[in-house]
Amino acid sequence: MRHLTDFLRVLRDDLDAAHGHDPAARSLLEVALGYPGVHAIWVYRLAHRMWQVVPLRLPARLLSQAARAATGVEIHPAARIGARLFIDHGMGVVIGETAEVGDDVVLFHGSTLGGKAMRRGKRHPTLGDRVVVGAGAKVLGPVWIGDGAQVGANAVVITDVPAGAIAVGVPAQVRRRPLAAPFDAEVDDPAIFI
Ligand SMILES: CC(C)(COP(=O)(O)OP(=O)(O)OC[C@H]1O[C@@H](n2cnc3c(N)ncnc32)[C@H](O)[C@@H]1OP(=O)(O)O)[C@@H](O)C(=O)NCCC(=O)NCCS
Repeated sequence: MRHLTDFLRVLRDDLDAAHGHDPAARSLLEVALGYPGVHAIWVYRLAHRMWQVVPLRLPARLLSQAARAATGVEIHPAARIGARLFIDHGMGVVIGETAEVGDDVVLFHGSTLGGKAMRRGKRHPTLGDRVVVGAGAKVLGPVWIGDGAQVGANAVVITDVPAGAIAVGVPAQVRRRPLAAPFDAEVDDPAIFI
């Protein structure tokens, strides 16, 4: 029973995160019914639990593919995702098998946490807490994106990005606000401009 309560609390946190990030959201009901990014995360949370039970891995994969068909967001059930992820607009997001995502991360549509090599093992990125990945950005390989870093729209990131930094361009370069600069979510969250 406690597991179910904990699970429902995680789902509620995802809902609150979407509502809190998106100024266009009018109510929790609107978010619960109309946000494909939230639906994809909820299905992922279930599929990830199924993935821990080896005989359920195939059903978990099929469930995640069904979610992809419905939402346009593909999250491998084995990926590790922290609390309160917000996927804005949904469509075209891919999160690979060995990706790790911290807490309070925002991913915009078309962003990819992908691999560069077609071999087994850790081959997808690790994102810290409060990372923002802009629309269309690709983060490729087992790179590390530090807490509070922002990846610009359409960037292709193939190297580590320090905490608090901005990475833009192809291949992405770290432009400014490097290292331990404080992250002000109220000011820096690009979602506030949508
Ligand atoms: C990267 C980003 C977070 C930087 O925002 P910011 O802190 O306001 O920084 P600035 O706009 O001052 O840009 C800093 C530098 O990076 C460049 N830059 C910003 N975004 C860029 C991008 N996506 N691609 C290439 N260069 C970019 C700017 O030209 C500027 O260069 P300069 O120092 O030579 O003048 C922001 O531009 C961005 O891309 N956010 C993603 C938003 C998004 O995907 N929204 C989707 C809404 S549907």
